[in-house]
Amino acid sequence: MILVISCSHHPESRSRLLAKAAQQSLHNLHAPVDFLDLRTVDLPLCDGHASYDHPSSMKAKALVEKASGILIAMPIYNYGTNAITKNFIEHTGKAWQRKPVGMLCAAGGKGSYMALIPLAGSLMLDFHCHVLPRHVYATSDQFENDQITDSGVQERIDLMAGDILWLAEAVAARKHREIV
Ligand SMILES: Cc1cc2nc3c(=O)[nH]c(=O)nc-3n(C[C@H](O)[C@H](O)[C@H](O)COP(=O)(O)O)c2cc1C
Repeated sequence: MILVISCSHHPESRSRLLAKAAQQSLHNLHAPVDFLDLRTVDLPLCDGHASYDHPSSMKAKALVEKASGILIAMPIYNYGTNAITKNFIEHTGKAWQRKPVGMLCAAGGKGSYMALIPLAGSLMLDFHCHVLPRHVYATSDQFENDQITDSGVQERIDLMAGDILWLAEAVAARKHREIV
């Protein structure tokens, strides 16, 4: 099961369009997909303590645990991921252990191209995630209304869908070999 997470609360979010497109690409490849839109989840701010007992926190953790791979789509705010993405990872942290992860983001312009590096580093060093080296970075001029208009963005999403399935299979096979 691949989990696609949309991390924007904006009603006309462009990163949600990326997440939806990724879900469709995975469907086209006949992959089972869970879609989690954080706009619909009342996740409290993580306090590292009692917030973990919140039903939304436990539900989120279970979804991450169940996934064999994760695609996470987020907005770029202040040259980094938005706080909603960070809060979600703070809640679900250990459930990300050794998961394959692909990252997609919507940004206003090209200048924040390296903005996902700290997130990739933290997922790799903290939870030993296998982060796909090619991420999807889309700027506002690559969308019109509620559509992705740049075919290059769509191509990268399709590539990412294929890559996350390949990596999820490889990691699952590796874990299986460790058990038997
Ligand atoms: C508070 C805030 C900070 C932002 N900071 C950046 C930034 O540092 N770099 C950038 O390229 N775009 C920045 N943007 C533009 C957003 O990345 C852009 O609007 C994107 O589409 C947001 O994602 P969403 O549509 O999924 O909500 C910022 C927008 C907001 C509201």
